[in-house]
Amino acid sequence: MDQQQIDIRCGDCLEGMKKLESGSIDLAFADPPFNIGFEYDLYEDRLDTDKYLAWCHDWIGEIIRLLKSSGTFWLAIGDDYAAELKVMMQRELGLTCRSWVIWYYTFGVNCTRKFNRSHAHLLQMVKDPNDFTFNTDTIRVPSARQLVYGDRRANPKGRLPDDTWVLRPQDLPEGFRSDGDTWYFARVAGTFKERAGFHGCQMPEQLLGRILRASSHEEETVLDPFVGSGTTGSVAKKLNRKFIGFELSPEYAQQSRKRIDTVSVGQPLDGAADPTLSAPSTSQGRVLDETKKSQRKKAKTQPELTGVKGELT
Ligand SMILES: C[S@@+](CC[C@H](N)C(=O)[O-])C[C@H]1O[C@@H](n2cnc3c(N)ncnc32)[C@H](O)[C@@H]1O
Repeated sequence: MDQQQIDIRCGDCLEGMKKLESGSIDLAFADPPFNIGFEYDLYEDRLDTDKYLAWCHDWIGEIIRLLKSSGTFWLAIGDDYAAELKVMMQRELGLTCRSWVIWYYTFGVNCTRKFNRSHAHLLQMVKDPNDFTFNTDTIRVPSARQLVYGDRRANPKGRLPDDTWVLRPQDLPEGFRSDGDTWYFARVAGTFKERAGFHGCQMPEQLLGRILRASSHEEETVLDPFVGSGTTGSVAKKLNRKFIGFELSPEYAQQSRKRIDTVSVGQPLDGAADPTLSAPSTSQGRVLDETKKSQRKKAKTQPELTGVKGELT
């Protein structure tokens, strides 16, 4: 894959997308600022609600213009705007919702006077509910019928995952078995080898892998208007998709290009495909030495170190 096929443009996504040809994109994935006051290097993540919703209306509208008629748009969004944006996308922008996936994670942000935030939403929206890509065979997981019951009627290819996505299932072996109905992928914690280190909202490659495999084919074009650390581009390149992305921050744009330059087509995605193997269980507890205790204390007061967007209030 040559560099032309991985194209990261620095600048405002709305302006940038206006220059692209209608119907040129097969799959768009967006993980926008959630309007919760997260600290990015340039972008101010605290707009007046009406202004934020009007902005989302504009850039999602532009994505819809760019998508092919059989195209899919996946939106990652927090609680604060998930409901309003879903209604807007259906009623005003004419998309159809196929899945509302919950991505559950631990080690989110500790809040005061509300329950701690431990999930985000992933909305699979399509232009045409009768004609869209969903490659079931690329995302199957082993079923309980196969693994536990040895049932000969089980589909040997496994089953489709359900729409709840759990991290650290190793802590909840009774509730979340690997042959169960949940999506297991590890969060990109500060200590993970996968962590690029320059952006606080890096998403797990395995999460993007499932979305790209399900909703696009090899050599098709994937768009991400909010590149951040470059996870979507990295996964697109590894899975042999073309990629176009926009990033407001020159620093993030440059760093994400560097990250994507180091990967190649066919390279395995970062993180364990089976997250029960990706991190030690904490169910037995562990005594921390003083250095680790102080590192953890620091991470708790700096949400950008958690790798998950959230506020501290
Ligand atoms: C939540 S982060 C994306 C994280 C990304 N999914 C990853 O895995 O690293 C959102 C990004 O959008 C960028 N951004 C904000 N407004 C933008 C705009 N108008 N155009 C392009 N990028 C923008 C921010 O600088 C930030 O890096």
